Order: sequence, then C-alpha cells, then structure tokens
Amino acid sequence: MWVFGYGSLIWKVDFPFEEKRVGYITGFSRRFWQGSTDHRGVPEKPGRVVTLVEDPKGCVWGVAYKLPVGKEKEVKEYLDFREKGGYRTATVTFYQNDPSEEPFGTLLYIGTCDNPNYLGPAPLEVIAEQICYAVGPSGRNTEYLFELANSVRSLVPEAVDEHLFSLEKLVRDKTGL
Ligand code: SIN
Repeated sequence: MWVFGYGSLIWKVDFPFEEKRVGYITGFSRRFWQGSTDHRGVPEKPGRVVTLVEDPKGCVWGVAYKLPVGKEKEVKEYLDFREKGGYRTATVTFYQNDPSEEPFGTLLYIGTCDNPNYLGPAPLEVIAEQICYAVGPSGRNTEYLFELANSVRSLVPEAVDEHLFSLEKLVRDKTGL
C-alpha cells in the first residue's frame, strides 16, 4: 500500500514506511483552501492548510510512501487519525520523477468542498494574513507553509507551484521571517 503526501506528509514524517519515491499526480492543483482547527489553528481561529482541487491541467509534486508490509492497517489507522480534520482518502495514479519507472496507484488524503473544515478560495492576501496569525496544537501556520515550500523546492527544484510560492513570499514579506 502506497500513500501520496503533498502537504505536511511531505515534511512531517512521523510514521514508519518502507520506501519513498518523489513524483507527481495529475488532474489536481494544490491549494491552501482547507481550514485547520486541530493542527495549525483552533475552531475560533482556523488556520489554512493544503488540499487538492480538481484541475484538468494541474500537476502536484510530492512524495509516495510504501507502508511497511504487514503493518499497513495500523499505519493507515494512524494516518486516518492524523488527517481527520476533514480529509478522506481517494486513489490516484502516481508518476515517478524518473520517467523510466512505471506509474502506480496510491492513496491520498483530500479535503473535498463538502467537508466541514473546507474554507475554499480567497484572495492570496487574505489567505496570507490568515496564515500569519493562526496557531494550533501542532504549531504555527507559518511553519506549515515554510516547511512545505522549502521541501517542495529542495525535492523538485524545477517544480512550478505559483500558489504555494506566491503565498510563501507574501507571508515572508509580512512577517520578516
Ligand atoms: C498531505 O500532506 O498529503 C495531506 C495534507 C496535509 O496533511 O497537509
């Protein structure tokens, strides 16, 4: 069983895995449109974390993890708990960075627009402002954004993710971090 991470699962790896591969999925774009009331915000002041939105021309880079054989159920249960703030699982095709390697199916966690924490689109300035001030049990929302941007940049230097990198710039300019 493979699980594809495109958000915190890229950089906060607190679960066991057997193998990991860098690559991408298509048909979606990564957006800070999911509210976080349990990790990077609180119910009175939600943070913003990423989800995937359908986009026929979209491509999202991330990391696929192979769960340890024989422990898939246990690790998946942990991930279901960690991602409980509105995410559900879906199955997609994962394309590896190395095009000579075969694509394969992976699970991923997605916050679709019908979940109670979904916030949806907003001007980048508004999203940036919200990220600057939100904090939750897992820490500051700015940490989530900066860790994600740094990880995507170092995993795939040629990756284009205008939404992610524009937000990073706005928040760095606002906070001086
Ligand atoms: C993911 O990382 O793949 C899901 C979203 C998140 O936890 O940030």
